[in-house]
Amino acid sequence: MSVTVSTFQTMKQKGEKISMITAYDYTTARLVDEAGIDSILVGDSLGNVMLGLGDTVSVTMEDMIHHGAAVARGTKRALVVVDMPFMSYQASVYDAVVNAGRLMKEARANAVKLEGGVEVADRIRAIVAAQIPVCAHIGLTPQGVNAFGGFKVQGKTADSARKLLEDAHAVEEAGAFAVVLEAIPAELAARVSAELTIPTIGIGAGAGCDGQVLVNQDMLGMFHDFTPKFVRRFAEVGEVMRGAYAEYDRCVKDGSFPAAEHCYQAPDGVLENL
Ligand code: KIV
Ligand code: NA
Repeated sequence: MSVTVSTFQTMKQKGEKISMITAYDYTTARLVDEAGIDSILVGDSLGNVMLGLGDTVSVTMEDMIHHGAAVARGTKRALVVVDMPFMSYQASVYDAVVNAGRLMKEARANAVKLEGGVEVADRIRAIVAAQIPVCAHIGLTPQGVNAFGGFKVQGKTADSARKLLEDAHAVEEAGAFAVVLEAIPAELAARVSAELTIPTIGIGAGAGCDGQVLVNQDMLGMFHDFTPKFVRRFAEVGEVMRGAYAEYDRCVKDGSFPAAEHCYQAPDGVLENL
């Protein structure tokens, strides 16, 4: 059975943890889906790990639709959440609804995600009113890197922790079906998770969240430009890939690839009297 936003709600009520991983292409989405992961996030982190842009600021709607549609085609069971890129919802409620709609229609997302708390509550409310499920994202919000002056852990002062709690309640009140908590103290995330009725999905927010999300290339050990403290590498796939590429290079150059079993043969005699 497919995972829906109601499944998320039921899982929170039963105390079952929700697993989410990012993916940006068909092949990876199929593997993640077949592994039984509950939700696939087509994150605007594709700006970092797929496009090498260094941050998510210049990721476009076209990028999100292109990658989102590929993921949706590879996914049978998991809930596909597609990120709204920077400036697709900041300027107006109208932009937010129209662009969320494009992600549903053109990428076949099951839900959208956007960054911010109190200040985007009107956007969340309007998108939800258009029958589009919204996942919120508070704490460290990477689209705000220029306003923040870098990627910084949030909620470490009393003021910042109070703001985080206000944001969490504001997005729930606005109708979000879940909220990502990024890079905040574990104790604060546990408190938010206990106070909210919607599930919290943590990244760098400790084990007290209702679910966890990681960036695919980070958890597979494929991306080394920058590794936050919260990343656990569940495999060293980068090593495996480099090894396979080097072996291929060696075999091409020493003539051992391709071997007879990789070659096509014409029937006997056909090529003899040309
Ligand atoms: O873009 C992304 O991958 C995200 C997750 C890190 C939550 O927003
Ligand atoms: Na994101």
